[in-house]
Amino acid sequence: MRDRREYAEPFRIKMVEPVQLIPREERRRKIEEAGFNVFRLRSSEVFIDLLTDSGTSAMSQSGWAALLQGDEAYAGSSSYEEMKETVQDIFGYPHVVPTHQGRAAENILMTMLVQPGDRVPGNMHFDTTEGHIMLNRAEPVNLVVQEGYRISSDAPFKGNIDLQRLEEELDSNGDRIPFVLLTITCNNNGGQPVSMQNIRDTAELTRKYDVPLFFDAARFAENAHFIRERESGYEGVEIRDIAREMFSWGDGCTMSAKKDGLVNIGGFLALRDEDLYHRAIQWQIPFEGYITYGGMAGRDMQAMAVGLREVIDEQYLQDRIGQVRYLAEGLAHRGVPVIEPPGGHGVFIDARQVFPHIPQRDFPAQALVVQLYLEGGVRGVELGTSAFGRTDPDTGEMQYPELELVRLAIPRRVYTDRHMDRVVEAAAAVLERGGEVRGLQLVREAPVLRHFTAEFARLP
Ligand code: F0G
Repeated sequence: MRDRREYAEPFRIKMVEPVQLIPREERRRKIEEAGFNVFRLRSSEVFIDLLTDSGTSAMSQSGWAALLQGDEAYAGSSSYEEMKETVQDIFGYPHVVPTHQGRAAENILMTMLVQPGDRVPGNMHFDTTEGHIMLNRAEPVNLVVQEGYRISSDAPFKGNIDLQRLEEELDSNGDRIPFVLLTITCNNNGGQPVSMQNIRDTAELTRKYDVPLFFDAARFAENAHFIRERESGYEGVEIRDIAREMFSWGDGCTMSAKKDGLVNIGGFLALRDEDLYHRAIQWQIPFEGYITYGGMAGRDMQAMAVGLREVIDEQYLQDRIGQVRYLAEGLAHRGVPVIEPPGGHGVFIDARQVFPHIPQRDFPAQALVVQLYLEGGVRGVELGTSAFGRTDPDTGEMQYPELELVRLAIPRRVYTDRHMDRVVEAAAAVLERGGEVRGLQLVREAPVLRHFTAEFARLP
């Protein structure tokens, strides 16, 4: 038996949402009808939904109570003030631009600062961030440290940016770099954290070259928890103080409150510089809405203020990260190859090791997503050739991504460890019968972001 968790959940359940596992035969029919793409399933056909940790959190009783106190005034809403003060307190940035979600904050930041031909370095940009950089005809530059790409490396901060390569980039392209962006934690390689030392060193470099530093703060509290746990000098330091220190090194952040805001929708752009804030609101008003609501209802801003205070609670974080670790250990114990150490918001399975007989062109990670659904009604997400494969515009040949992963993202405060046990059983069953599983072929795809809508067929 693997270890039980040391901590019990620091909450009890007051309201329940029924879920059910539909029969296997029905799952088979549903996934075929969905073109072997779990995005096309209805949530009622899914038992344990680990598609994303974004917008799927359970709010607390305080969060729900806050909804009733929302001030829906178009201008000067007290809910905006409440949210702004909370952000100022935790992030330390004086100016707060509310947006409907994280990507809207990215849109404002990029529209303001990114020019055609620019290069935007970061550890590893999230997909929508990359999208906004490219929409402004600039180039995203991902400089995560080498071990960030290694599945078997147990380095503690696999989200760190490679400082040497960053300096080379700043040195040779400094005039084309509007800012550097650190994503904390780094979603695209497994929710891996960035150390305080790396943040500090990055800040020193960007100051030397007079380039601003921003954060993508979607999972900032999880990042702070890892610093407290793994970095010397931070043991016993309060999460709030770690967060304040992280952000003190930068000029602002984009935030998707759908993650570490513990709400189902919302986000913001926070800025240190007043002039930049005045430029930002020129874009906020046409894109999002007036400066004191920007795409959010008053009630949602009120609930976000509560969520931001709850997410930096050490007991909450211990339970949260503990559950992710519980799932990762359970899977590893049954021989399922997972990225180690697990990150903050989910567990990533290496599909190539599960299905060594399926070549990359036949979508091994997509085949694994399908199999997890068939075995246990579990919905994960493909991060492999379907999501990241690109057709070379010159040669017409497929360029394959480095990794074929399946992400099992865990919603915050939603599932119990017994749900995690069912996920482990499903994955173990897939592994056992792995050799019989055939790959997939694309039958329909969109020109961009194809994984959301693509349809597949089983290979003969
Ligand atoms: N930045 C990071 C690191 C993210 O993971 C996401 C969203 C965003 C920005 C965009 O925020 O969705 O509020 O517009 N990630 C989700 C996910 C979709 O499933 O990982 P958004």
